[in-house]
Amino acid sequence: ANITFITTDGTSTTVSGNSGSVMELARDHSIEGILGNCGGVCSCATCHVHVAPEDVRKTGEASEIERDMLELDDNADEYSRLCCQIVVSDAIDGVVLRVAE
Ligand code: FES
Repeated sequence: ANITFITTDGTSTTVSGNSGSVMELARDHSIEGILGNCGGVCSCATCHVHVAPEDVRKTGEASEIERDMLELDDNADEYSRLCCQIVVSDAIDGVVLRVAE
């Protein structure tokens, strides 16, 4: 799947992968702002992204645990996801994710 990240300075980077989580993919490609401090267990929110509205049907909605974490983040909105919780697969090909502040 090809996934596009837009970092806070407006830079757009498209990377491709076929397994693991979106957070791991971002880290592998040194996408700025995706730290993944907790290693992907949904407890740090350093992998926060905003999914492009038209792509939400591909990524699905945040889980309850994920929403609880996002509630603590002032920058969260209805399109927020913790990208360690998004699995890389063909189902999300073409999605655009904006790295949160
Ligand atoms: Fe920590 Fe996603 S990497 S919540």
